[in-house]
Amino acid sequence: MSYQIRLFGDPVLRQQASEVTDIDGRLARIVEDMVPVLRSAEGLGLAAPQVGVQKRFFVYDMGEGPRTLINPVIEESEGEWVYNEGCLSVPGMSFEIVRPKTIHLRGLDLDGNEVSIEADELLARLFQHELDHLDGILLLDHLDKATRKQALRTWRELTESPARPSGLGGVGSLSLP
Ligand code: NI
Repeated sequence: MSYQIRLFGDPVLRQQASEVTDIDGRLARIVEDMVPVLRSAEGLGLAAPQVGVQKRFFVYDMGEGPRTLINPVIEESEGEWVYNEGCLSVPGMSFEIVRPKTIHLRGLDLDGNEVSIEADELLARLFQHELDHLDGILLLDHLDKATRKQALRTWRELTESPARPSGLGGVGSLSLP
């Protein structure tokens, strides 16, 4: 099955995803279908809700091949780091957002093994961004009121423009998923 990336405005992006209870062939097949979507969008990560699957997992690829994290939890976070963050569900837009610089994340991999990762900077950012998706949170929610208002206006212009460039989705390639 081929997935479409759900865009901002789709209610599925605002729902709380539920825990994965069975790490089975069905989940593996969903992941298999998500990887090419992530690749063709040239993103770094893709959370299940972004393809309409209300489950707590995401795929990511930092250049070392695709990996999956299931039921991820941030155990600790530290510091502050500013990064110009984008999202495949809000293509064409990015924002300077402050988040913790390092995190300790725990979860499960596709074999059901426990994973414990100390992540810094870009990887830490990716994890926090994807985890937000599992809770129905989008990067726009991290903006102050005025910036958010402006962002919503820009988004409306981008999506309502009849001359919307078909390659719009590729703009996210420089930023996070
Ligand atoms: Ni995103």
